Amino acid sequence: MSKRYTITAALPYTNGPIHIGHLAGVYVPADIYARYQRLQGQDVAFICGSDEHGVPITIKAKKEGVTPQDIVDKYHAIIKQSFIDFGISFDNYSRTSAKIHHDTASEFFKTLYDKGEFIEEVTEQLYDEEANQFLADRFVVGTCPKCGNEESYGDQCENCGTSHNATDLINPKSAITGKTPILKETKHWFLPLDKHEAFLKEWILEGHKKDWKSNVYGQCKSWIDDGLRPRAVTRDLDWGIPVPVEGGEGKVLYVWFDAPIGYISSTKEWAEREGKDWEPYWKDENTKLLHFIGKDNIVFHCIIFPAMLKAEGSYILPDNVPANEFLNLEGNKLSTSKNWAVWLHEYLQDFPDKQDVLRYALTANAPETKDNDFTWKDFQARNNNELVAIFGNFINRVVVLTNKYYDGVVPKPNEFSTVDEETLAILKAFPAVIASSIERYRFREASQELMNLARLGNKYLADEEPWKVIKEDEERTQTIMYVALQIASALATLSEPFLPFTSKKLKSILCHAELVEASTWNSISEGQELLPANHKIGKAELLFSKIEDAEIQAQLDKLEASKKANASASSAQVTEPQKEMITYEDFSKLDIRVGTILEAEKMPKTKKLLVLKVDTGIDTRTIVSGIAESFSPEEVIGKKVTVLVNLAPRALRGVESQGMILMTEDESGNLVFVNPDNHNKVANGLRIS
Ligand code: 2FM
Ligand code: ZN
Repeated sequence: MSKRYTITAALPYTNGPIHIGHLAGVYVPADIYARYQRLQGQDVAFICGSDEHGVPITIKAKKEGVTPQDIVDKYHAIIKQSFIDFGISFDNYSRTSAKIHHDTASEFFKTLYDKGEFIEEVTEQLYDEEANQFLADRFVVGTCPKCGNEESYGDQCENCGTSHNATDLINPKSAITGKTPILKETKHWFLPLDKHEAFLKEWILEGHKKDWKSNVYGQCKSWIDDGLRPRAVTRDLDWGIPVPVEGGEGKVLYVWFDAPIGYISSTKEWAEREGKDWEPYWKDENTKLLHFIGKDNIVFHCIIFPAMLKAEGSYILPDNVPANEFLNLEGNKLSTSKNWAVWLHEYLQDFPDKQDVLRYALTANAPETKDNDFTWKDFQARNNNELVAIFGNFINRVVVLTNKYYDGVVPKPNEFSTVDEETLAILKAFPAVIASSIERYRFREASQELMNLARLGNKYLADEEPWKVIKEDEERTQTIMYVALQIASALATLSEPFLPFTSKKLKSILCHAELVEASTWNSISEGQELLPANHKIGKAELLFSKIEDAEIQAQLDKLEASKKANASASSAQVTEPQKEMITYEDFSKLDIRVGTILEAEKMPKTKKLLVLKVDTGIDTRTIVSGIAESFSPEEVIGKKVTVLVNLAPRALRGVESQGMILMTEDESGNLVFVNPDNHNKVANGLRIS
């Protein structure tokens, strides 16, 4: 009997197109898994849709002078098309602005409200007096209390991944006006995560220690160990799903409350269209629910959404949440704002028939256990050295020779040699090997096993040399070609989850559709004849083509242009408008001195912070500085610096920072010390005035 799978892929935000990071982290692995389970005959609902609420969309709309609806309509269409173009085989792709979603999310909220699952509380929230608006989530930017990143958003720090409340930020600023917000009272509904702590501990820490990926388990453990607190699930915004209870006027559901419910509403939409019942996909204990996401979404899918589902009471919980780490591009973080990305729609303009090449390169180098780097050179090598030289070359030789020797008809085999028997036995084992990797969410490993099968075929042909044997032993040649054709057929089937376009093309070349029982995953492992004698195959067509150096250079040039544009944009920032006037008294409050860095070391578990010991002339003190990405500890020891010494101390990651080293940026946007030439002749402790 088939097993039911509800497979979800993170709903992408609709404030921009999607890039290779999205594909590598979430959608390609989810698609491989869904396609694989369908090939096993399982009952699969592969669900996604656009995440159309939240602050970034309203910010973008404001910037462009259009409505948020205009923004989501535009990007929903682009994103949906990218998924189709790359063969991401969703059973349904919905959107959270759909009525079915508004109804489902409202009803979900009301159920929890009626069950008394929320705490209603008036708290002080950040408010921009100039914009007349509460500053939720990304409407506020400030210093992350955990890692010191000065550009953390109100809801989440992109540097360390910590998710926090806007009021936790140090030195918050409105993203709308740049002003420092005030605190103002407002009422909201909170999901008391603390109430679900015991259940979450048992379910995750005891129940999923072994089967969840260590990065996922580790993040959950750290959240739970830190102590869970109530989380606000409503916001003072005008874009989103209205809070459907008394007192909710002018407020909407928090985007992270409504978005995961989008998986449910998208399933409903699909079931309605297909004449199915949606409920077993979300409520039957025998259904396997899986969420494919990126690492920044772990807490929402492993802690908050399960707590919501548990509080509602009638839903199943995810069986696994195979989150990936992040993909970098040519050594730098992918960034939409810096245009440091390979956009899927642009990739297709440059490589119109190479969707599978990108799918393969991203899978073979997927950031499964750690952040990984995408480089165009690696992409080229994966194509030229693996897809062209191994997979494509094998198939081409088999198809060309079958046409040449037998007019495309699969020959009848004669007696199998030991090598033939061994080769067919190895072939038989491949489906289980690939399946085992996929079922353990090791898609890199699975893709390499697929390539190993093509290697097996290549080696078999190279060793058996049918092009030589044909001159003296026709019978033996028939057997060799028969065996090679079985491998080609298995490749057509087993490649389907990874390379769906190639698989389709190969099946058409081999005329799979004309076979009563075309090769299936199981028929390969059962050792069945996949392409029987007398079956006629089609003509050879190239599956892959070489990518030239010039094409790769063109991509690198594009990135270089982005880098240059960013550098000039950041040097333009140096000439930002003058701040408001201050008096001499204001200035004289600043105590700025010359100092020397005596010691420096990296703050453990952070990327940006260095812990410095600085001789200020007054004393030797500790200063935590966010410069670790630009300077190594060794580089800064002995450096003369300018220090603001009377800045109120503050704790960063538990270390008290007693001042600030003054920094600026050079014309390429690199961090540099404010360090006039004559510093070296000036004694520590001298005041700068
Ligand atoms: O990180 C993101 O892109 C979010 N839009 C993911 C949402 S996943 C789900 F909960 F909808
Ligand atoms: Zn941080």
